Order: sequence, then structure tokens, then C-alpha cells
Amino acid sequence: MLGKQVANAIASLSADALRVMTLELAHGNTIVEVHEGIQLAKPVDIAQLKAIPGIAEIIANATVKESHLAIGSDVISWQTPPVENKFAKGAAYLSGVGYVPISEAKISVTDYGYRRSDATYDVVSVWDGNFFRLDDHIARFRRSMDGLRMHPPESNDDIKRILHEILRLSGLKNAYVAMDCLRGVPPPGAPRRTDFCAQYIICYCIPYAWLIAKDIQETRGAYIVTSKVPRIPDECVDPTIKNFHWGDLTKASFAAYDQGADTAILLDQKGNLTEGPGFNICLIHTSSTPIRVVTPERGCLLGVTRQSVIELCEDMGFECEVRAVPKEEMERADEVFICTTAGGIMPISKVDGVDKCGGKPGPVTMAMRTRYWEKRAEGWHAEQISY
Ligand SMILES: Cc1ncc(COP(=O)(O)O)c(C=O)c1O
Repeated sequence: MLGKQVANAIASLSADALRVMTLELAHGNTIVEVHEGIQLAKPVDIAQLKAIPGIAEIIANATVKESHLAIGSDVISWQTPPVENKFAKGAAYLSGVGYVPISEAKISVTDYGYRRSDATYDVVSVWDGNFFRLDDHIARFRRSMDGLRMHPPESNDDIKRILHEILRLSGLKNAYVAMDCLRGVPPPGAPRRTDFCAQYIICYCIPYAWLIAKDIQETRGAYIVTSKVPRIPDECVDPTIKNFHWGDLTKASFAAYDQGADTAILLDQKGNLTEGPGFNICLIHTSSTPIRVVTPERGCLLGVTRQSVIELCEDMGFECEVRAVPKEEMERADEVFICTTAGGIMPISKVDGVDKCGGKPGPVTMAMRTRYWEKRAEGWHAEQISY
């Protein structure tokens, strides 16, 4: 049995103090079940405790666990107050600032990134503690930055390290992870010229977000309408550079909500499908052999999920065509789905008020969706995070 003096001294330790002490002294390996609960609250002077005769030997034979200390048949347990992780709701990195909790990530109102939407970005997902196609996202981010003549100080390797670090800080296992590059602002007193700005990077992670709620995907499928607002022409804003010129996409979204739909698809000036607010579109012709999946070639972001769809088609023995897709083809397609980092492959069950597949998610779409998540779980294009 523990001496009364020792037991009292240990019992009066704070959990932190106890851990410090036992880290120093414990080499023991006996594991004994907890049978006595003693809350350790008051901090104690470790030097004083160490001075108790025989304490070193006693503690040397102790086993320290997260919530208890076992010495022979004596067990002292404690309740460790939950350590609040200030990054748990999300973590961010800002060039020149460093790592901050998501709620503290701020930009200047004078920044052209905010003032003029002069920014580019990319979004990569994390699922089960793994990035998906991280190198592809960073490569596209770099192409977007180069395309806009943005040259922040961070290299691709730096960005990768930063993204790993924000995930590690937050502990998030399923996350929406953004990397943004903002134009910056000309130095004080300098002319308001874009080329005088110094660009900088913001990276952040928050819990994973679904573009279309998961239960909608799995029950009724999403409803889409064709927007009367055309997609801004490629000559004005290059859609392959991920951007925040969302005026057309936002207008189309509101028109869709007004019609009871979940989202909208925008056409180009020739009446071909382009993309929607945050996603690429794919059609499936199930009656052809092999099954054919069709997706627009131009007028849209070259989506990383779209690329995964192209690879999945090969995997599943489907033919995939990347070409101009007239709106009418969507009307006669057997199935329609949308795809994006924030949700993967998502079924559309109604187009412009007309049911697809009897108003239910299409079976081929759902098979592709299942395979997509299965392959991810198997480590497809995965990069593991060390938390
Ligand atoms: C306009 C637009 N198109 C397509 C996509 C899909 O791209 P990805 O699959 O790379 O996420 C997005 C993603 O945010 C987007 O914003």
C-alpha cells in the first residue's frame, strides 16, 4: 500500500503536475485496473514531492496512463480536464502572420483580393485523414497563380508543408482545405497599380462541406435547372483559372432556388453546357454499349474530380467523351451527375422540372459514386496526414 503521506501528496497533484513528475520518474510497466477515483486538482511543488522518502522507487514502479497511475495494487485516477484545441474548428495560415485559429484569419479590406476579386484559389479535400490528389490541386493552384501573374513567396513544397500543418493543428479528419492567393495592395503612397502589389497566400481548413447535402444525394437526388444567365465568356474570365468572379454563378443559383431547384447549369454563348456554381457536369448514356459518360471540354474548370471521373470510367469499363455538349443532349441523357471536391459525384434526378430515372438518383451514377468513395478509402491518390 502507498504510504498515507505519499498518497496524499500524489492525490493533491494536478493532472499536469503528475504527468510532469511521472514522466521524469516512471519506468514501471505494471498495469492495474482503476478502482479508486481521486480527483487531482491542486498543483503541488514537484521538488517537495520528490523529497518524500522512497518516492522515487515508488514512482519508478508506477505505470502512467492518460487517466490513472498504478503503483502495485494502488491506483490513482484523475479526470484530465479536456484540453481545448483552439484550432479544432479550423486552422489557417497567412503569409507573414503564421498559423492562427480559423476565427482569427483576417484580411485587410483594402486588399485587391477582396476589393476586386483579384484572387485565385484551389480546394482539396481530406477524408479519413488523407488528402486526395494533393499534388494535382497544388499544380493547378500554381497554374492559376501563374496565369494571373501572381508570385507569392511560397514554393509548392512550402504550400504542401503548410497544408499538412494546418490539418495537423486542427486534427480534422474530414476537411475542406482551401489555398488562396490574393493580389495584395500597392504600398502606401504608391499609385494604385496592380503590378505594384505583393501577393500572399492564405491556406485554411474547416470541417468537410457538401455542395449537395449527403441525404439529398442518397434519397431524392438533386434538382438542376438551366440558367438563363450564360456563363461569362472564356475570353473575359478564363474558367480554367479558379476564380471568384461568381456573379453569373450566384445569379444562376438564386434563379434556381426560386424555381425550387438545388442548383443551376450555365450554358456558353453557343448553347453548350459549361459548369455550375462549384461543379462540373457529366451525362450518362446507359443504353449505349459500352456505357458512355460525356462531359464538357471547354468553358469550365478542369476539375480534379472530373479527372477522377475520367479515370473511374476506365476502371469501370465505360467510355468517356470530353467534348462540346449541347444542352439538348442533357435532356435526352439517361442520367446526369455533377462532381466537385466538395461532395464527389452527386446525382441529379430532375433537369428543368423533368424527372431523370423516375426522379431518383441514377443507378450508374450511384455505382460510380460508390466506387469513387471506395477507391478513396483504398488509398487512391491519397496522401496521409501525420496528426
Ligand atoms: C466553377 C467550378 N467548376 C468546377 C469545380 C469542380 O472542381 P474540382 O473537382 O477540382 O473541385 C469547381 C470547384 O469548386 C468550381 O468552383
